[in-house]
Amino acid sequence: MQVVIAESAQEVAQLGADHICRLIKNKPAAVLGLATGSTPIALYQELISRFQHGILSFSQVRSFNLDEYVGLEPDHPQSYRHFMNHQLFKHININLQNTHLPDGTGDPVLQAERYEAQIREAGGIDLQVLGLGRNGHIGFNEPCSSLGSATRIKTLTPETLRDNSRFFSSDEFQPTLAITMGIGTIHRARKALLLATGKAKAEAVKQMVEGPLSASCPASALQMHPHAVVVVDPEAGALLTHHDYYHRVRAETDLLAMEHYQ
Ligand code: F6R
Repeated sequence: MQVVIAESAQEVAQLGADHICRLIKNKPAAVLGLATGSTPIALYQELISRFQHGILSFSQVRSFNLDEYVGLEPDHPQSYRHFMNHQLFKHININLQNTHLPDGTGDPVLQAERYEAQIREAGGIDLQVLGLGRNGHIGFNEPCSSLGSATRIKTLTPETLRDNSRFFSSDEFQPTLAITMGIGTIHRARKALLLATGKAKAEAVKQMVEGPLSASCPASALQMHPHAVVVVDPEAGALLTHHDYYHRVRAETDLLAMEHYQ
């Protein structure tokens, strides 16, 4: 696991976009795994800006999102399909037919199986973008999720429901179930890129990176991922113990990359 403590939330977004740019440059038909929530919004703005400046094209890219609420139609304003269309897809040249989210309507068990099969048929995910729940969830894999799980239905914890209630008005139906990629699905992505910002995430970041590998903190499963990169801002990284080491690794990695491209 590579841990990068960026200087600011803005730099987290820029570094995240750098990873995606490099991938698409090397593989224009890359398969991207995407996330919703507050954290990736700055990343998506950065990607939109690079697209608008002609640095990046999504014309051949395919995407699979981590999760979707059960019971919300795709055009529901709180659905993750709606979020992705508005925060990213409609601003870039991705073919909407190449963008996938679990279908929150219909039989969720069948939908979950179908989604897992679609990811396999696409050749697997090249790079999976992840946010981090305050309780250590990735996707909607709540604490105690199987570390080998595939796409399936999950019951959201009261903490997650509370955290996400900010997106719903008081009289609006807030789903308590979601279809989410499993931790096994995330593990099969060739690269995992987790972004975390703000002090509310500091404890979860600490547990994920330096805590024990445990289903109590599902994100700690990234310790087993062969190519996981965690990019945090100073607030989210505040409780990490090995700051100096992470900074040194970053400096040496940058140096190696420079030498490689000279
Ligand atoms: C979103 C997702 C979640 C969020 C997490 C953090 O698709 O799967 O795991 O990444 O809940 O959300 P924010 O970024 O809103 O703090």
